Amino acid sequence: STPIAIVAAMHEELSALLARMPDEQRVRVAGRDFWVGHLQGQPVVAVLSRIGKVAAAVTATVLLERFGVRAIVFTGVAGGLAPGVNVGDVVVATELLQHDMDASPIFPKYEVPLMGRSRFAADAAIGDALAAVAEGTLRDPVGLVGQKAVDEFHLRSPKVHRGLLISGDRFVSTTAECGALQRSLPDALAVEMEGAAMAQACHDYGVPFAALRTISDRADDAAHGDFTRFVAEVASRYSLALVDAW
Ligand code: ADE
Repeated sequence: STPIAIVAAMHEELSALLARMPDEQRVRVAGRDFWVGHLQGQPVVAVLSRIGKVAAAVTATVLLERFGVRAIVFTGVAGGLAPGVNVGDVVVATELLQHDMDASPIFPKYEVPLMGRSRFAADAAIGDALAAVAEGTLRDPVGLVGQKAVDEFHLRSPKVHRGLLISGDRFVSTTAECGALQRSLPDALAVEMEGAAMAQACHDYGVPFAALRTISDRADDAAHGDFTRFVAEVASRYSLALVDAW
């Protein structure tokens, strides 16, 4: 049967999941390693896209053209934007938007030119499954990341949120920029650098897309340090939540 693709930008975001794919075969395309194997008996292609919207779009195209995947799931970390979206929480996207897309005044701000839309819907059924598995996993944060990390990152009662995820070719690392995004896009839950690009590519091919992101920082003046510590110490553990999603 046709595989599902699991994508993260960086190795630290997927390493624990890759370790659960014992039978994988490595196929090298476009300078990336595509790991073809199984998770829980389901055929899977796992790949690291590298960071940014172009890297995401190239990776999506290879997955769709060469591997014929039937859906793509993106995972990794994101910066929290909306109030109450805290470090250690999980965001499952219902829709995605490129916050650095702006061809105004020719097209409305955020609209993807000639596509007549700024928002791309994520697949609801896959999103439901991801959110359900994440809810279960987050009920036991100590089991997921260990007591030391729970204490260090204050992961007392991490939550699952669903809503708008925004993407752009910027690491948002000032309280000023974070505030501007919150004012312009008040329903945005979190910001990262790949999801909306991959959602657009999947839309073009008519293939379902979903994204699950763990909050590593609040996209504020402390984001650089918070992101670096979270990625180094706990991010990959969260990818294990995906192992049980199908
Ligand atoms: N991924 C994780 N944190 C981020 C941030 N603050 N900005 C952009 N992408 C991120």
